[in-house]
Amino acid sequence: MTEPITVTTTEQLQSGEMKSFIIGTRQILIARQNDTYYAADNKCPHMGGNLSKGTLNGSVITCPLHNSKFDLADGKVLQWTDFGGLAKAIGGAIKKPKPLKTYPVVIKDNEIQVLLSL
Ligand code: FES
Repeated sequence: MTEPITVTTTEQLQSGEMKSFIIGTRQILIARQNDTYYAADNKCPHMGGNLSKGTLNGSVITCPLHNSKFDLADGKVLQWTDFGGLAKAIGGAIKKPKPLKTYPVVIKDNEIQVLLSL
C-alpha cells in the first residue's frame, strides 16, 4: 500500500538543493529545481554512494563516488560510472547498469510528501 509521507517543507529546500532524509529503514533523497521536486533512493545503485553528496544539474544527479549520472525524473541511467575503457577491458566483472529507484512527490500546502509503499 502506497502512502504519502511528509518529509520536509518547501521552505527547507532551495532550488538546486538536495538533502537526504531517513524514513523508516530507507534513506530518501529529495531534490528541488525551481518548483519541481524529485524523490529517489539516496544510495547509488552502483555501490551505494551517498547521492546527496553528489551534484545536481537540472534533473540530472551525479554520484560523488564514480560519477554515474541518473535522471531524477525517471531514474534512467545516463552514464554508468566513469570507468569507461576499464569496464570494457575486464568485461563482465563490473556491475551492469541499474536504474535509480524514484518515487512520486506531492506538494500539499507547503509540505513535500513522498508516495512510498510501506
Ligand atoms: S557508487 Fe555511485 S557511481 Fe559508483
